Amino acid sequence: MYKISFKQGDITKSECECIVNAANKSLLGGGGVDGAIHRAAGRELYEECKKLGGCKTGEAKITKGYNLNAKWIIHTVGPIYSGAEDDSVMLSNCYTNSLNLAKKNGIHSISFPAISTGAYGYPLRESIFVALNSVIEWLNNNSAYDISVEFCCFDENTYSYYRGIYGTMTVSREQQNKEFAEFIRRNNVRTKDAIEMHLADEPFNKIKNGEKTIEIRLYDEKRQAITIGSDIIFYKGETIDEWITATVIGLYRFDSFNDIFQSNLFVKTGCNNMTPQVAAESMYNYYTKEQERQYGVLAIEIKKRG
Ligand code: APR
Repeated sequence: MYKISFKQGDITKSECECIVNAANKSLLGGGGVDGAIHRAAGRELYEECKKLGGCKTGEAKITKGYNLNAKWIIHTVGPIYSGAEDDSVMLSNCYTNSLNLAKKNGIHSISFPAISTGAYGYPLRESIFVALNSVIEWLNNNSAYDISVEFCCFDENTYSYYRGIYGTMTVSREQQNKEFAEFIRRNNVRTKDAIEMHLADEPFNKIKNGEKTIEIRLYDEKRQAITIGSDIIFYKGETIDEWITATVIGLYRFDSFNDIFQSNLFVKTGCNNMTPQVAAESMYNYYTKEQERQYGVLAIEIKKRG
């Protein structure tokens, strides 16, 4: 089983077995978290790093922790943000390769800084989507390996963004199934193939009062399974205490969120209090532009039941 946690503080003080360093290709130290780790670990770290022959962007190498609480340091080199598609791939590789190296060395607790979001200029929100998606995907693909992952945020802003975005991401499949089984038991709902969706209070209430009949999501694997006639259970917030059931009466695919809000469906989206441009922009609180490009988007027209 795995555990994800968030901490605000100095990663050199982390209690984890291993901390990750946002290094540069030379591995010979620098500023930011790299400088802090080298200062705290001491001269021996520099001596060991000199023998590693550097590190490519997206790759990871391991050393001892020396004077740190942590027994190990995994050094990874994040991308210098340029806005290219490859940036997110390289950043994702930093997390994936660090976790692979941790598993290979039998490490069971690891702490990550917000890689590339300092001197390397990666936009914080976008980096967090990449970091969380990469780590959750690795953890789900290695669910037999027991490891806890800490995201160590140096400042309050980074910490609250991590917590906020993690909270809006879909809970892991087993967690969802557990909640759904609990929901069926408690509410005696006989909906065999229902699709569950969590909504913030405002859109939930707009569906409830009939103001909103279009829900917008990425056209990802999960949403590709939706058909006309599917049942959807909308939960209010992250719990399953309050819900609405609805039936799918229309499915419309678009290339972008902007296309939906510029179409005649805009009036059914419950976003009439915004301009189509602002409404489209607000979708990037939940998804990245890269996900939008990768999957396209889906407008799901529903008819509330009961
Ligand atoms: N503990 C935890 N996080 C820290 C610490 C610390 N002691 N010091 C800085 N950070 C945070 C920053 O606030 C930022 O959120 O680490 C994140 C990454 O910032 P940088 O350290 O600047 O790393 P990065 O953006 O990946 O740039 C790497 O900077 O320090 C040089 O040698 C390094 O050339 C490399 C480049």
